[in-house]
Amino acid sequence: MKPTRLAEFLAKMEPSSVAVFASAHEIRRNQDTDFEFRQDTDFYYLTRLNEPDCVAVLAPNHPEHKYVLFVRPRKREEEIWTGLRAGVEGAIRDYGADAAYDIARLDELLPKYLQNAHKLYYGFGQNQQFDLKVIGTIKHIRERVRTGVYAPTTIIDPATIVHEMRLRKNEDDLKSLRRAAQISAEGHVAAMKHCKPGMYEYELEAVVEYVFRKNGATGVGYPSIVGSGFNTTILHYNTNQCQIQDGDMVLIDAGAEYNVFSGDITRSFPANGKYTKAQQAIYEVVLNANKEVIKMVKPGVSFMKLHERSVDVVTQGLLDVGLLSGSLKDNVEKKAYEKFFMHRTGHWLGMDVHDVGRYKLDDDWRTLEPGMVFTVEPGVYIAEGAENVPEEFFNIGVRIEDDVVVTESGSEVLTSGVPKEAREVEATMKESAMVAV
Ligand code: GLY
Ligand code: MN
Ligand code: MN
Repeated sequence: MKPTRLAEFLAKMEPSSVAVFASAHEIRRNQDTDFEFRQDTDFYYLTRLNEPDCVAVLAPNHPEHKYVLFVRPRKREEEIWTGLRAGVEGAIRDYGADAAYDIARLDELLPKYLQNAHKLYYGFGQNQQFDLKVIGTIKHIRERVRTGVYAPTTIIDPATIVHEMRLRKNEDDLKSLRRAAQISAEGHVAAMKHCKPGMYEYELEAVVEYVFRKNGATGVGYPSIVGSGFNTTILHYNTNQCQIQDGDMVLIDAGAEYNVFSGDITRSFPANGKYTKAQQAIYEVVLNANKEVIKMVKPGVSFMKLHERSVDVVTQGLLDVGLLSGSLKDNVEKKAYEKFFMHRTGHWLGMDVHDVGRYKLDDDWRTLEPGMVFTVEPGVYIAEGAENVPEEFFNIGVRIEDDVVVTESGSEVLTSGVPKEAREVEATMKESAMVAV
């Protein structure tokens, strides 16, 4: 049987069209060692086949072969090194292809599936090597025009279909996302319980990722960010090498990948378990923005309005604390808040941590629909030496990030398993660690 999402994609394709999707391929790390394999997300979403060097062709007008897979053949002498493969038989039997071939036959057979289709769905720009293959195939067909064949004349970005599908999660997707978020939350709670001044950032990283793997996550959805002190003010810091000092803030942004869906959580807490007055003041500004934005989430709300609300709350908070001066309106108009809050409030979340889907349709920001999932992650970052800032605020970076699903009636927060109220964070940090590491 064809995978459900693939059948949906086929049904949405235009008349007289063919679609081509390439899997990811192995990437060399050093010498003869590869990076850990990660499947191309669109390819996996449609086919569920988690192998490198495969190609899927979707040809809804073909009398028999509407779904064709090119795969690596089963070869004992290769499988003994890198594991079992679906092979040509498995591609049909287990992955629902109508026909399947050895990938070595791609050059010979791809032109036969592409010729005489008016339109080709192919996403240029993801895989340069394969882009050249597609261009070469079109050229090859054009050169045979006198034999009565013709090449597609219109190229359509398949994102117009598949990314719109990925943007709206179904119940199966949500089950995996809920689990990814739940495991992510457990990792963060364990880190809060383990944290002590004198530890190294990488020790907390290890605690978080141990809990992810222990709970069945395949790994992380993105490199874990574990920063302390000044490093909390670096947005995508992930070297995680420094020793955590008494009095430091600690910021952890980490998410487990489960069933190829990613959690994405940030929590910010005091290394010694007690926020200083300045740390707590900044923390409350960010927490207030996080909570105010989550309150707004329901179908019909513009994605941009969420960011605008977040900017208003953060800016007002910074005015109240005394780090900005003047009117709210002026500070927002002049973007004065960007000195401390320089990123967006959130992004789509799914199989990719920064998931696909357009944010604007024509000139208008998209409005929320049930099944959309995104992060809410306001932040304030004050590096040492920031101009016109009292010293007690130096090296305070706070981001509070939750994962939210839009439901028919409002929202579901997937990441409530990890505390965010300051007093709850402090109470959690007092509990002794439950995982033995
Ligand atoms: N972890 C990257 C982000 O929060 O967007
Ligand atoms: Mn994050
Ligand atoms: Mn995020």
